[in-house]
Amino acid sequence: MYDSYFYEPARGHGLPHDPFNAIIGPRPIGWISSLGADGVRNLAPYSFFNAFNYTPPLIGFSSLGRKDTLRNIEHSGEFVWNLATRPLAEAMNLSCAAAPPEVDEFALAGLTPVASRLVQPPRVGESPVAFECRCSQILRLKTAAGQDTDAWLVLGEVVGVHIANAMLKDGVYDTAGSQTILRGGGPADYFEIQPDSLFRMARPDYPLVR
Ligand SMILES: Cc1cc2nc3c(=O)[nH]c(=O)nc-3n(C[C@H](O)[C@H](O)[C@H](O)COP(=O)(O)O)c2cc1C
Repeated sequence: MYDSYFYEPARGHGLPHDPFNAIIGPRPIGWISSLGADGVRNLAPYSFFNAFNYTPPLIGFSSLGRKDTLRNIEHSGEFVWNLATRPLAEAMNLSCAAAPPEVDEFALAGLTPVASRLVQPPRVGESPVAFECRCSQILRLKTAAGQDTDAWLVLGEVVGVHIANAMLKDGVYDTAGSQTILRGGGPADYFEIQPDSLFRMARPDYPLVR
């Protein structure tokens, strides 16, 4: 047993920094491109992001407040997820600027919009992996007491997948060599996937053999 610190988030953490994001971290980044009703391209990172199903593949991210990406997807029903890698980290960071809806974050971040195959929003040409997605659900998140929060979970079905051939080693996707970046805690912490952080562990059979 550890001697531990305990707090109830609703009453405050009492620490110099809220540890929540640092504990649930590093998190994959949902780097989401979408199109505004007026056709303006939008790109923004969301680290409250993950995959939720294999077949069909479903991914989702949470918009804390009603942001442009959420509004665009409510309107168009489509988005693209782009993989954020170390060479793209600075551009990814630029794309989070709180720019007004009429600003194209591809241009702001110096990125190339490339036409998608199945959906209208473009993908990031410099990103080695992209998922074309159709929105499947948008859920306004609630507290345990059933009160609405100011957070919206946007879920989408992955209907098209682009993978740079260099990321496929004998046909197997090379996560260890992908230089994927992940969000840590605090205002500025990130992690990069490196080959030496890989370890393997097969699932156990039951009954356990010790
Ligand atoms: C790495 C990173 C992760 C972020 N994750 C989230 C998130 O999960 N949810 C959120 O609402 N904002 C998140 N933000 C902030 C948004 O990117 C920022 O508010 C952005 O301006 C939203 O753009 P939009 O209004 O064009 O959708 C994150 C920013 C960064 C840099």
